[in-house]
Amino acid sequence: MNDYLIGLITDRSDCLNKIYDEAVKNHIPIVREDMASLLKVIVHMMKPGRILEAGTAIGYSSILMAEASSSDCIIDTVEIDPDLVVVARENIKRANLEERIHVIAGDMQDVFACLDIKYDMIFLDGAKSRYIDVYDDILRLLKVGGVLLCDNISYHGKIYDEPKFVDRKHRTIVANLRSFLERLTSDDRFVTSILETGDGIAISTRIK
Ligand SMILES: C[S@@+](CC[C@H](N)C(=O)[O-])C[C@H]1O[C@@H](n2cnc3c(N)ncnc32)[C@H](O)[C@@H]1O
Repeated sequence: MNDYLIGLITDRSDCLNKIYDEAVKNHIPIVREDMASLLKVIVHMMKPGRILEAGTAIGYSSILMAEASSSDCIIDTVEIDPDLVVVARENIKRANLEERIHVIAGDMQDVFACLDIKYDMIFLDGAKSRYIDVYDDILRLLKVGGVLLCDNISYHGKIYDEPKFVDRKHRTIVANLRSFLERLTSDDRFVTSILETGDGIAISTRIK
């Protein structure tokens, strides 16, 4: 997205500004500005009571969603990297949000399988090749009327090519991501739209 338009939609709290700078300095991937603004709009519109996120990194998107939601919204966020779990918890504590954001250490597939709560919103931002592995748990965990957001579904544009034409290193990721998108878009329990915002987003609502 063009710098002028990014400038118009960028609106970070002081706390998020610090975490943003920390992420840039340490090369930690976080949501792009256009995705961040979309997340904020959706949280304001949906007013979720409970959000599940896969891929905490250092807590940037969790804090952003907490700031956009009401004070009784709880966010459960899952991170596989133990070092990032420590940093995320520190950042969340510094933001005074430790009562509302629970960082769960572990692999999203294992963690999702153990959860038994219904969510209003699920944000998938963990390993792209593994979205397909949590599909059935998403259905079990997402309320009817809830929203599913999946980031990076264009995978730097590689998703446009058939897997056999993708370089060997990324072939499995593209094949798995395509399987996930094909399952999601053909599932009549969801209505889905795909946006080329950020690195590509699938936004779905569960209708049955
Ligand atoms: C793009 S970053 C998340 C950024 C974060 N949502 C934000 O915008 O602030 C992806 C994160 O997913 C984590 N991750 C990768 N595979 C995972 C898995 N299987 N389970 C949980 N987390 C995973 C990575 O360690 C990384 O921190």
